[in-house]
Amino acid sequence: MHAAVVTSFGSPPVYQEFPVPSPQTSDEVLVDVLAAGLHPRVQSQADGSHYTSTGELPLVPGIDGVGRAPDGSLRFFVLPDTTMGAMAEQTVVDLRRSVVLRPGTDPIPVAAAMNPAMSSWVALRRRIDFTPGQSVLVLGATGNAGAMAIQVAKHFGAGHVVGAGRRSDRLAALPGLGADATVSLNAPDDLSQAARDVDVVLDYLWGDPAAEAMRVIVTDRTDRAKPLTWVQIGSIAGPEAAIPSAALRAARLQIVGSGQGSVPARDFLVELPALADEISKGTFAIDARAVPLADVEAAWKDTAGDRIVITP
Ligand SMILES: NC(=O)c1ccc[n+]([C@@H]2O[C@H](COP(=O)([O-])OP(=O)(O)OC[C@H]3O[C@@H](n4cnc5c(N)ncnc54)[C@H](OP(=O)(O)O)[C@@H]3O)[C@@H](O)[C@H]2O)c1
Repeated sequence: MHAAVVTSFGSPPVYQEFPVPSPQTSDEVLVDVLAAGLHPRVQSQADGSHYTSTGELPLVPGIDGVGRAPDGSLRFFVLPDTTMGAMAEQTVVDLRRSVVLRPGTDPIPVAAAMNPAMSSWVALRRRIDFTPGQSVLVLGATGNAGAMAIQVAKHFGAGHVVGAGRRSDRLAALPGLGADATVSLNAPDDLSQAARDVDVVLDYLWGDPAAEAMRVIVTDRTDRAKPLTWVQIGSIAGPEAAIPSAALRAARLQIVGSGQGSVPARDFLVELPALADEISKGTFAIDARAVPLADVEAAWKDTAGDRIVITP
């Protein structure tokens, strides 16, 4: 069969022949892959920089996807951290880490959206006690996960959602997804005005923009005793942030993370069916673009903004 194969962490995967993997347990089946998302998490898997990387090569990237199982069912699946990923004509899936999709479901939006949408879905459902009516700031709302977070927060009953980012054209699209307000990260005064009293921050950025936003919100809060829960989800702007110690003393701020590890695998799996169902029903607007597996090398360098889905 053909697969996207990484043989060096410095180079993108190459479309080439690869041995067909074999199921090893009675829970595993060989599926025909129909779609696999090219998420930032997959990029960091393929360049060896993700915190779960073991350094083993060659590897086929892809952490999740949609495939056809031997019984004919259409399934969304999540793969364990091994060197056999989803960007191949076939891959091995543990049925316990998969969910059957409604008949007729389009695999492309599901493969595109499950990873970015799950980031806010599990954060709100599994990492904090989120209650309907609370207000949410999405920091880094112009990305795919941030745009999904606006919609997921609204879906769970957020009273007021603010989207913050740096690209004006993508910020302008956020009210159409449900954002009640948008704010440019280049305007700290606007951020104070729009978000100083939020209950929850879903942070996809970390780095300097998160530290600056935290300083502004904590300093300008109307009532510093009002709880502020900062959920660290992504670090696209930098792996480290200089948090002033006073921020943790001067306001009722708690910082939690949400991701692989802080959310146990079983908690992710419990949430899969409901999210897959919402995506299959078309509840969320999804920005996806299908690219054939044979073009994976070119797709790797394409950073247009929409979520690329590799289709074998
Ligand atoms: N923990 C989890 O469960 C989980 C799950 C999914 C994703 N994530 C993480 O979440 C992050 C975002 O993922 P994604 O799928 O949304 O990626 P994406 O679609 O590639 O979007 C990334 C966005 O980040 C913005 N950005 C990059 N550098 C920035 C900076 N210095 N300041 C402000 N904005 C900046 C870009 O904004 P511009 O439009 O301005 O270029 C872009 O819109 C990644 O770090 C990813 O690994 C975490």
